[in-house]
Amino acid sequence: MYSVKGKYTVEVCFSPLSWPLFERQDAVILITDIFRATTSMCAAFQNKVKSIIPVAEIEESIAYKEKGYIVSGERDGKKLDCAEFGNSPFNFMELRLQGKTVVMNTTNGTQAIKMVQKGDNVVGMAAFSNRDAICNWAMAQKRHIIIFCAGWKKRFSLEDSLFAGAAVDYILKNGKGDFHTMCDSAIASVDIWNQAKSNPRAYIEKAAHRHRLRKMGLDDILDYSMQLNISYCIPVLRGHEIVDIG
Ligand code: MLT
Repeated sequence: MYSVKGKYTVEVCFSPLSWPLFERQDAVILITDIFRATTSMCAAFQNKVKSIIPVAEIEESIAYKEKGYIVSGERDGKKLDCAEFGNSPFNFMELRLQGKTVVMNTTNGTQAIKMVQKGDNVVGMAAFSNRDAICNWAMAQKRHIIIFCAGWKKRFSLEDSLFAGAAVDYILKNGKGDFHTMCDSAIASVDIWNQAKSNPRAYIEKAAHRHRLRKMGLDDILDYSMQLNISYCIPVLRGHEIVDIG
């Protein structure tokens, strides 16, 4: 199935370090950071947050805070001193955030967004929670698709790569023959997904960041983060903000 030729390619970039090998400026890029940035973004939009401003530098978060913005974020999992809250999806479900803009700064996820914000790229935020919605939107753009795993400090991460497989599998099965892949990392990601898909929640016990979160007492998000298709949100980058067009 994966060798069938289509008009558009689907590729998976397993780590920000590999991005220069994949980089193009005319594609749909789906950023994924399952634990926790993109899962939290989807939770925010499900809670009717108006927009999210992704930033990479702590100084930027401080500057936004001084202008009166709500600032969230973490480094190595721990809440930033300048932030009101960290990066749990549950933080973004508070009613007071509805209709508000939130600035987000994370160790890997928002850094990845900044890396791909170039040229004519169209950038969407993907998680298990919005897999079908974001993949359907990506396919409708009629462009090559690259799934960019934010990883952990430039390393491969199992949860992001597992999601990449779930997304590639969905796109190849539902793309009406318009999409194909000759990308070994895309094929490997589908193999990981096939290994895990009968029980992704159990499989992800192997992931390093799962254990990092447990040590910090932040692993209450595991069940929520591994749920497939609980949201129709389509968070996309528009200028410097992420908005939900779903
Ligand atoms: C990140 O962007 O690095 C993550 O979402 C880290 C986390 O929140 O644990």
